[in-house]
Amino acid sequence: MSRITLPRLQKLYTDGIKIAMLTCYDSSFAALIEEAGVDCLLVGDSLGNVLQGHSSTLPVTMEDMVYHTGCVARGSRTAFILSDLPFASYQESREQAYRNAARLMAAGAHMVKLEGGAEFARSVGFLTRRGIPVCAHLGLTPQSVHQLGGYRVQGRTAEAGDQLLADAIALQEAGAGIILFEAIPADLAKRVTAELQVPTIGIGAGPDCSGQVLVVYDMLGIYPGRPAKFVRNFMNGASSVSDAVARYVRAVKDGSFPAAEHSF
Ligand code: KIV
Repeated sequence: MSRITLPRLQKLYTDGIKIAMLTCYDSSFAALIEEAGVDCLLVGDSLGNVLQGHSSTLPVTMEDMVYHTGCVARGSRTAFILSDLPFASYQESREQAYRNAARLMAAGAHMVKLEGGAEFARSVGFLTRRGIPVCAHLGLTPQSVHQLGGYRVQGRTAEAGDQLLADAIALQEAGAGIILFEAIPADLAKRVTAELQVPTIGIGAGPDCSGQVLVVYDMLGIYPGRPAKFVRNFMNGASSVSDAVARYVRAVKDGSFPAAEHSF
């Protein structure tokens, strides 16, 4: 199969075919995950938690992201690769955002992701007009965990829901090619998805997004303590890691994941 591109993702979206995304941080997993049918690999700054053992994503550096993006790109032949701009690598100015996004693209990313709403619309426009596709991450934005007061579901009030919708529209108008929602009520994700003309990807955002993402360690059952409500352990009943990933892809594509029990 040839490489999945942004226009191909847009076509999946317009054809009503769900997009399956997983986080990925290294070359071996990149090959395995895409072979099992995943459309998009996200080199997430969640690597700060699951690889580095930090309690937040805040310590993750540009050097970390460039290194892991290169590892994933070298193992990948077919998936569309997104890479996170880490904390303090884009918030200062659109020029700073461009400089650091360009480093991720040079390392092998096909799109960068940044956390935040309409306040970053100018940066999104600056990047996309210069050939760097952008995914905007709304809802629970882990880089703002201290501002949010913890890892909490966002968008629960009517006001917060309207704000999220306004942010998503502003980011789409600025050029964002994908909007990602983390930990928001399923009915809000459904409403905003219906208003947009670009795909939405959900994690803890219910079944009505255009696609889903999970942290690969979570869906393989590799986490200390209790999993988040929105996680399903796809290793249960699977014969191998590849089989678990293939089951995830099938469940996303046929709409059986996430179920009501994974949604807010
Ligand atoms: O860093 C990450 O893994 C993410 C996902 C939680 C969407 O941003």
